[in-house]
Amino acid sequence: MIPHYLIKSLSQSFKEGRSVPDSFFDQIYPDEVKKVSITHWTPVEVVQKAMNFFKDSSFQILDVGSGCGKFCHVGSMVSPQHQFSGVEQRPDLTFISQDIATDLNLDNITFINANAFDLNWNDFDLLYFFNPFWENHLSPSQRIDQSLPVKKEEFSHYINTVILKLSQMKLGTQVITYHGFGGKFPSSYECIHFENAGTDQIKIWLKTK
Ligand SMILES: C[S@@+](CC[C@H](N)C(=O)[O-])C[C@H]1O[C@@H](n2cnc3c(N)ncnc32)[C@H](O)[C@@H]1O
Repeated sequence: MIPHYLIKSLSQSFKEGRSVPDSFFDQIYPDEVKKVSITHWTPVEVVQKAMNFFKDSSFQILDVGSGCGKFCHVGSMVSPQHQFSGVEQRPDLTFISQDIATDLNLDNITFINANAFDLNWNDFDLLYFFNPFWENHLSPSQRIDQSLPVKKEEFSHYINTVILKLSQMKLGTQVITYHGFGGKFPSSYECIHFENAGTDQIKIWLKTK
């Protein structure tokens, strides 16, 4: 269980728009999740900046490859007007994400344990990518864990599938990237905003045609 004082302190900080160090936020996660945070999970600052861009709207948001759920957990506390969904291939991370959302009393989040490509992305208005397939390029010791047979050769197939799915999205779809998604956006998208955040930039893309 997450201690009550921690939930209260995080809620208050987000409500007041204060910055929250990752080491403080990450206390909500089990040790095995915390220890890979710096490499694999979105920094709090990145979520705060991205959500600030969408503060006057209310969207169905999908985090493609949601890991331990950090993007959705922070996003949901910062911007309760959105509906967050996270799709994650690793069952243990999906269960942890859901348990944490319940502990935090967040009712605008759903986590789905599935291959992201099996979902209809057109059910969402806004997609989020933190370079979800890059793990295929990492050595075993750099990966989240050893539970999956991630393969370098499959990277370009994943990226081509993302590009195809992006090109089939409805007009007006927006996409947030942090460290990109691993490929180039189709020409039907325009980058409408970028700013420095974390160790890279947040970019916001709009499907215009
Ligand atoms: C870099 S982590 C990002 C986690 C989360 N979005 C965040 O920003 O904190 C990428 C995640 O994508 C997941 N992933 C990769 N390929 C996937 C797929 N085809 N379907 C679902 N999840 C996938 C990985 O298991 C990993 O947890």
